[in-house]
Amino acid sequence: MADSTVNDAADGSLVMRIFSELFGSPLNLALLGVCGFLIYKIIASRRSTDTLPPKEPELPPLKKQDFTLEQLREFDGKGNDGRVLIAVNGKVFDVTKGKRFYGPGGPYGLFAGHDASRALATFSLGEDALKNEYDDLSDLNSLQMESVREWEMQFQEKYVYVGKLLKPGEQPTEYSDTEDEEKTETDKKAD
Ligand code: HEM
Repeated sequence: MADSTVNDAADGSLVMRIFSELFGSPLNLALLGVCGFLIYKIIASRRSTDTLPPKEPELPPLKKQDFTLEQLREFDGKGNDGRVLIAVNGKVFDVTKGKRFYGPGGPYGLFAGHDASRALATFSLGEDALKNEYDDLSDLNSLQMESVREWEMQFQEKYVYVGKLLKPGEQPTEYSDTEDEEKTETDKKAD
């Protein structure tokens, strides 16, 4: 009896401590807010795709090609065909099928048409994680670089690789049609 009273008191004070940790600091409150907002956006985007019966027709695969940052920006999901491209660790992926994440109004819509590497590495959704000029990521630490590579693998598994993100002055690769057909075959197998 006395034990259970002591345990209840200990549980009570632990709960109080967790609450005061979470709600006592403005930074934690802000982070909770961001998490809540993202969960809301993800659930809302799921609901809206569930209740929208006319599925958008799938876009034809893009020809394999490299992109400058400026060329990448054109694919922010707001163009006529709504295609969305994102670069991660120097590779450009067609993420149109993940439009509920990256399309206009999606929780990660700010990545559309951009190099998302720094934002993913630093787990940041701030505009400052998206540079206007080419980002060589050279100031990131090894953990952050490891995280970029993990994201890259995740994108590689889920989305179609379209080509490289070109460094300033770098010439685009001339891809042969065979390479393009190989890519399409791999995509078909993956689907
Ligand atoms: C703490 C707040 C966050 C919560 C609660 C959250 C929640 C989620 C959830 C539930 C998913 C999976 C959705 C699904 O598969 O249906 C997801 C995916 C994802 N999240 Fe977050 N997230 C948070 C923060 C972030 C941040 C800060 C970033 C990037 C800087 C980020 C980037 C992503 C990406 C890239 C995906 C994968 C989308 C895809 O499959 O293409 N998340 N998030």
